[in-house]
Amino acid sequence: MASALTFPIKVGHIDDVQELTKTKSPIPERFLRSEAERSTLSATASPPIEIPIVDFSKLAAANNPDEHSTEISNLAIACQEWGFFQVINHGIDVNLLEAVEKVAKEFFMLPLEEKKKYPMAPGTVQGYGQAFIFSEEQKLDWCNMFALGLHPPSLINPKLWPTNPPDFSETLENYSREIRKLCQNLLEYIAETLGLKKNVFEEMFGLTVQAVRMNYYPPCSRPDLVMGLSPHSDGSALTVLQQAKCSYAGLQIVKDNNWISVQPVPNALVINVGDTIEVLTNGKYKSIEHRAVTDSKKDRLSLVTFYAPNYEIEIGPMTEFVDEKNPCKFRKYNHGEYSRHYLANKLRGKKNLDFARI
Ligand code: OGA
Ligand code: NI
Repeated sequence: MASALTFPIKVGHIDDVQELTKTKSPIPERFLRSEAERSTLSATASPPIEIPIVDFSKLAAANNPDEHSTEISNLAIACQEWGFFQVINHGIDVNLLEAVEKVAKEFFMLPLEEKKKYPMAPGTVQGYGQAFIFSEEQKLDWCNMFALGLHPPSLINPKLWPTNPPDFSETLENYSREIRKLCQNLLEYIAETLGLKKNVFEEMFGLTVQAVRMNYYPPCSRPDLVMGLSPHSDGSALTVLQQAKCSYAGLQIVKDNNWISVQPVPNALVINVGDTIEVLTNGKYKSIEHRAVTDSKKDRLSLVTFYAPNYEIEIGPMTEFVDEKNPCKFRKYNHGEYSRHYLANKLRGKKNLDFARI
């Protein structure tokens, strides 16, 4: 959520996908993917797969060291072999999860004119619209986004916080606080899986950056021709994804070079390792490429929290993960610079991380 980019960008007219759905007009050319991309969309007709499940209550079981260490091993495998997992028994009140889903959905259901009061200016990432658009030729995602910076307070842009629905701000603030605690705890456990002292990341990251992006995917008559969200890896350290109840399996991740659909687990939160952790661990834990697909009948809402180091922080592989067998894969860089690089480019698989690759 870096400051606005200053170069002028010509992005042309961007159709709002919810409005397109209402008018039942044909899918505009700009949403239709190339043959190559379509073939990967149709390749994923296979049933959704259950990714690793991590039981947070077992990680936190201070009075049961066996249970704790078994779950730490489970977490280690999830991070190393998948880069994605679902946390259950995370301790966040289900009512709060439902409340934030409700206000997000209510926001997306407002008339377009109302939502346009909180515009995402081209080249910026906060507000309502489509992020990561940099040219008129670029393909568009079948998705509406509403993104807000949450932490540190300097990142909060109060003008973009909707007054409708009335309980939006309070609900999001409560949610943000709970998700933040979860991220802090998970990073401690992830440090433990790596044999590092538990507060190593928190100490390294300074005043951490936290942002939320709400993604709303209306149904699309031809899910085989469009992408909900283009393939990418997250520029964060850790990402927490909440899928609204009744969602179909719209999230897809790369596993062993294939796209697989993630089977949603009720009330679980999907966690993934971001680019920062991949760099810090010199590739031991990878930030996995993922995307979202649409459905012909159902809509889908996801609430995605990005948790990342402060922009001031220098990031590079930790010495613990570099030796003769594991030569250093990434250079040292400033995380703010990486964020700007990430936000100044369209979503394009794992290409953004080339910025740091040696
Ligand atoms: C994201 C993301 C996936 C989804 O917002 O970075 O990967 O299912 N979203 O919405
Ligand atoms: Ni993502």
